[in-house]
Amino acid sequence: MDWGMKNRLARILRPADGHTVMLAVDHGYFLGPISRLERPAETIEPLLPHADALMPARGVVRNCIEAAADIPIVLRVSGGNSIVGEDLSKEDITTSVEEAIRLNASAMALSIYVGGKYEHQTLVNLSRLVDEGNRYGIPVLAVTAVGKELAKRDARYLGLACRIAAELGASFVKTYYCENFEKVANGSLVPLVIAGGPKLDTVYDAFRIAHEAMSAGAAGVDFGRNIWQAENPVATVRAVRAIVHDEADAKAAGELYDELVGGSKKKK
Ligand code: 5RP
Repeated sequence: MDWGMKNRLARILRPADGHTVMLAVDHGYFLGPISRLERPAETIEPLLPHADALMPARGVVRNCIEAAADIPIVLRVSGGNSIVGEDLSKEDITTSVEEAIRLNASAMALSIYVGGKYEHQTLVNLSRLVDEGNRYGIPVLAVTAVGKELAKRDARYLGLACRIAAELGASFVKTYYCENFEKVANGSLVPLVIAGGPKLDTVYDAFRIAHEAMSAGAAGVDFGRNIWQAENPVATVRAVRAIVHDEADAKAAGELYDELVGGSKKKK
């Protein structure tokens, strides 16, 4: 691997432990202004000191993040779909590698829809993006998207999708946590970070899946809604950080969260 590629990856997956806490804020590219991301700058700013990397699309980078911010950007470069459109899997590359360089991106992120109507298109897009990224030393994060079919999130399916992403050259993969996640991690070839998905009932559920994923071989999280839609986003990300970087279990993370929000009363 070339020096530039290694250097960019090391800004995301922290060299001390190879782990990362990424903050996903790219949702608007197909979901529009969802709750708590109507004004991304206000949501993102207090969380930045507690994240290792940020995952936005270019509109949020240019309009909502200070250019002086000291945070690696994993730039969402795929899109062209919407929640009200024909099929979520109909995605293409929407941002050029030159634009990623202009924005000083540390990595580029693109969704693949294995088993989806436009599976072939999204997998070929991944391969092309990896070729472009390799030319300039920019790693690619493949996101194993499932569209509206959340039921597909089992180890057999996610193992397949993650392995295909790695075989096509992704440097790391964002996927969902599932039962038997060890199987997904064992066959993935490259580091995995997990998405949180729609907001869970409580932050303690998010701590549980973060801890189980880390124990099963994940390299970190790329949580969005389960951080910034939580009642106390800063306390939530700090507790998740303790799991990812300090080997805290879900109970210890919950206690840290309770302490940070100022009492043992459990809050959502
Ligand atoms: C869709 C995505 C999302 O845009 C987002 O990054 C997911 O984050 P979370 O599920 O944690 O809110 O990647 O495939």
